[in-house]
Amino acid sequence: MRTIDSLGDLAGKTVFVRSDFNVPLDADRSITDDGRIRAALPTLKRLLAAGAKVAVAAHLGRPKGKVNPDFSLAPVAARLSELLGEDVALASDTVGEDAKAKIAALKNGQAVLLENVRFDAREDSKVDADRESLAQEYAALADAFVSDGFGVVHRKQASVYDIAKLLPSAAGELVFKEIDSLSRATQNPERPYTVVLGGSKVSDKLGVIDNLIEVADRLLIGGGMAYTFLKAQGYEIGTSLLEADQVDAAAGYLAKAAAKGVSLMLPTDVVIAPKFAADAPATVVAADAIPSDQMGLDIGPETSAAYADAISDSKTIVWNGPVGVFEFEAFANGTKAIAQAMQDGEGFSIVGGGDSAAAVRNLGFDESKFSHISTGGGASLEFLEGKVLPGIAVLED
Ligand code: 3PG
Repeated sequence: MRTIDSLGDLAGKTVFVRSDFNVPLDADRSITDDGRIRAALPTLKRLLAAGAKVAVAAHLGRPKGKVNPDFSLAPVAARLSELLGEDVALASDTVGEDAKAKIAALKNGQAVLLENVRFDAREDSKVDADRESLAQEYAALADAFVSDGFGVVHRKQASVYDIAKLLPSAAGELVFKEIDSLSRATQNPERPYTVVLGGSKVSDKLGVIDNLIEVADRLLIGGGMAYTFLKAQGYEIGTSLLEADQVDAAAGYLAKAAAKGVSLMLPTDVVIAPKFAADAPATVVAADAIPSDQMGLDIGPETSAAYADAISDSKTIVWNGPVGVFEFEAFANGTKAIAQAMQDGEGFSIVGGGDSAAAVRNLGFDESKFSHISTGGGASLEFLEGKVLPGIAVLED
């Protein structure tokens, strides 16, 4: 993969950088987790220090090709300015008059943020010619392209993929670090290799389970998806989340794991409540004793202890997806236990996925105690599935 070194002397050159600033916002449009912005800083600082003029492109949400102020990158520009310690102006468009004027006015070592690339329907069009025409407009603004939005490298989009074919291109520091770290789980992982999978849906994780069941020693299942597995074991799961059309798939994974000698662990106890609410009364029951009018919202303490044990003697651990509703304090203990065990263990610990990374930060864990916290949700999952990511492949051509 080509790195920034391959671009040579960048002083006075305009560099188009694709970052992933798709950060969660609350109802007041305040950023609730700025991890992706902080992760983008090493590349931006390096380019600015090299005297480049930096035009940063990013998306926020899915505005579906229409200009919509609800999806403006304004909160990101403000936070980015704070973190960089210098003012980063926001262009009011992406490749229009304002973007052109603001880029033309840049001095060496200054940056501008372009407005949401997804305000233009061509950015994520399925029609190659549409994306290519937008990429031509991006390329006309710059001398080089740096791809640093790891969270979006699984998307074949104009600012991720097509532009890389038009300009001298390289992976940024973040993309390089992500690939380097995640590869430790896909290429000869040190064993025991344990994967913790949570999140709400089995259907989102089919590819990753298919792939990891072949390489992992242990699969620890939590989150909403665990109830479909418990159903496949023949348990009653009350009003817990169920993907009825995935029960057979879950049963197939249980059988496959048994046949391959992979330890596929399911919750043996769960924290239940009558409704999905922060103030709902929480009770611990055995996984085969969920009352018909209650739902499971977290793994129980016995399960947490067993999962922590499995993590503690592992040499490689990948965690994707919270194992409970960590946003509600009463149902956050399982997710805390997983994070704590990963921090305390000696293994190479990778936190993948937007929600699990947000959980680590929002629950107050020290990020530096994990070997790697990925900024990619779908991208890290697809990487672990062994898929070719278009935004990476295009940097290797
Ligand atoms: C993400 O949040 O995972 C990335 O920013 C990609 O966003 P997308 O799923 O809307 O393409």
